[in-house]
Amino acid sequence: MNYQPSDSRYQSMHYRRSGRSGLKLPAVSLGLWHNFGGVDAFSNSRAMVLRAFDLGITHLDLANNYGPPPGSAEETFGRIIEKDLRPHRDELIISSKAGYTMWEGPYGDWGSRKYLVSSLDQSLKRMGLEYVDIFYHHRPDPETPLEETMQALDQIVRSGRALYAGISNYPAEKAREAAQILRQLGTPCLIHQPSYSMFNRWVEDGLLQTLKEEGIGCIAFSPLAQGLLTDKYLGGIPEGSRASKAHGFLKPTHITDDKLVKVKKLNELAGSRGQTLAQMALAWVLRHEGMTSVLIGASRVEQIEDAVGMLDRLGFRNEELKQIESILN
Ligand SMILES: NC(=O)c1ccc[n+]([C@@H]2O[C@H](COP(=O)([O-])OP(=O)(O)OC[C@H]3O[C@@H](n4cnc5c(N)ncnc54)[C@H](OP(=O)(O)O)[C@@H]3O)[C@@H](O)[C@H]2O)c1
Repeated sequence: MNYQPSDSRYQSMHYRRSGRSGLKLPAVSLGLWHNFGGVDAFSNSRAMVLRAFDLGITHLDLANNYGPPPGSAEETFGRIIEKDLRPHRDELIISSKAGYTMWEGPYGDWGSRKYLVSSLDQSLKRMGLEYVDIFYHHRPDPETPLEETMQALDQIVRSGRALYAGISNYPAEKAREAAQILRQLGTPCLIHQPSYSMFNRWVEDGLLQTLKEEGIGCIAFSPLAQGLLTDKYLGGIPEGSRASKAHGFLKPTHITDDKLVKVKKLNELAGSRGQTLAQMALAWVLRHEGMTSVLIGASRVEQIEDAVGMLDRLGFRNEELKQIESILN
């Protein structure tokens, strides 16, 4: 059946400016890391992307290696573009990345110009796109000179393969250096993509401040700690959940008693705010002024709807923030 996007898709989503750029991103973005691979049901992957778009989620995040197998999430997404979203390409912000192992030999990993340019060409082919909106270096490379990696991003933007450049998983000092090089090259760094959640707060120790000073946006990945910051693991590990799957990155050993005690208390607090725990965990990440978007994952359409429902109750009273601190500490 032909897809007709919802007429109300821009009515309730909030759009936040990425740093000092001209680009706004939806407060909730959808990542295709898990559940969009060649091993997953295409009908479900398609339903999630289309529902997201209907809810105003204009930003979809990919990487060369998402799957499994690596590359297959971009292929799935390419099929959805072809079937449904091609007429709406100009309403979408599509990102991809290179930086982790993608193919054999010395040119399929890390941060050389050779790897980044070839990898993006492969990604564009898999997705059937002429360009991505944001292209990221996925992780810092301790061996390649930072200048080379940033020159590759600059070249990629100048060649029209990407509209904006981003970095991911860079610690504060390296991010500042990268931003300075990119600025000198004339391709300012649009955005940084770090992990951040109630259970993983490393960005509070300098990175957020650096991004603010440099005028760079921030999109937080795994804001639900891969599903831990929901009520789903309170009664054990459900069949079909990420922690139950052999290829999932959330392992049963990550679900410790200590974490579950905190999740239970946070869940009660979320209830008292009239929200789900997932909604409170996302609103908590967005409480920073410089936080452009939360980058969620999903295995079902309902999870995306739940996430967007967070927009009805974004703010926190001081008392609630204190309670969260005392639960987490
Ligand atoms: N730059 C990087 O290095 C990097 C690394 C990792 C991720 N990312 C990006 O960030 C995106 C999100 O990462 P993530 O998937 O780890 O994010 P997440 O939002 O922390 O976790 C998503 C998972 O939580 C569960 N979930 C979501 N909503 C739920 C709800 N309402 N109730 C119960 N369970 C719920 C689902 O797992 P179930 O399968 O259990 O239902 C879902 O797949 C990725 O797709 C990718 O684009 C980037």
